[in-house]
Amino acid sequence: MRKITIAIDGFSSCGKSTMAKDLAREIGYIYVDTGAMYRSVTLYALRHQLFNEDGSVKTSELEKEMPNIKISFQLNKETGRPDTYLNGECVEQEIRSLEVSSHVSPIAAVPFVREALVAQQQNLGKDKGVVMDGRDIGTTVFPDAELKIFVTASSEVRAQRRFDELKAKGMPADYDDIKKNVEERDYIDTHREVSPLKKADDAIELDNSKLTIAEQKEWLISHFNHIV
Ligand code: C5P
Repeated sequence: MRKITIAIDGFSSCGKSTMAKDLAREIGYIYVDTGAMYRSVTLYALRHQLFNEDGSVKTSELEKEMPNIKISFQLNKETGRPDTYLNGECVEQEIRSLEVSSHVSPIAAVPFVREALVAQQQNLGKDKGVVMDGRDIGTTVFPDAELKIFVTASSEVRAQRRFDELKAKGMPADYDDIKKNVEERDYIDTHREVSPLKKADDAIELDNSKLTIAEQKEWLISHFNHIV
C-alpha cells in the first residue's frame, strides 16, 4: 500500500492529537506532535528567563539560544505513544502545563523559531507514512499532503476537554482560566504574520464538538481508506 502524508490542523485543544495518535497507531504511521515542539521551546525560554515582564519574547537572546535547543521524540513503551524530549530530558508532562500554554503562542509567532521547527518537521516527514498535527501542516509544512484535515470545535467544548485532561493527570486546572487561554491562543495563532492558522483550501473540515473519539476515528479512517 502506498504511504501518504496526513496533515491534521486546527484550533487549540480540539482533540487533534488524540485523533492523530490513534490514527497513526491504527495504520502504522509515525506520529509527530508539532505543538509539543513549540511547547518545548517555550519551556526552555521560561527556564532561561527569555520572556519580558509583559509576556513578549526576548527575541535576540532566544535567537542565540536556538542552537542549544534540541527536541526529539521517543516511544513510551507503556503508553505506546511518543514522549517529547528537550535536550535529552523527558518533558512530556511539563510542556502541557498552563504556564507553558500561556506563553507558547508568542514563541510560535517568532519567525526564526518557526523556520527551525518547520525544517525539523519536514525532515521527520520526508519519507511519508506520517501523521502530523499542528496549525500550519497543510498550509506550510506539507502543502502537498495527500490528506488534510482541519478540526474545529466550540471554545467551551475545547476548554472542558483540556480541563478534564489536566485533572486526569493530577495537574492544577481552572475551567475559566483554560477557556481564556484557549481563546487567546486562537486569536494569536490566527492573527500572526508568519503561517497564521487557517484552513488549507483543499482540507476537509471536521467539527468534532459532538463526536465521540470512536466516531472521529471512524470518520478519519474512512477518509484515509478512500485515498490509499
Ligand atoms: O497543539 P498545541 O495546542 O499543543 O500547540 C501549542 C501552540 O503551539 C499553539 O497554540 C500554537 O501557538 C503553536 N503551534 C503552532 N504551529 C504548529 C503547532 C503548534 O504555531 N504547527
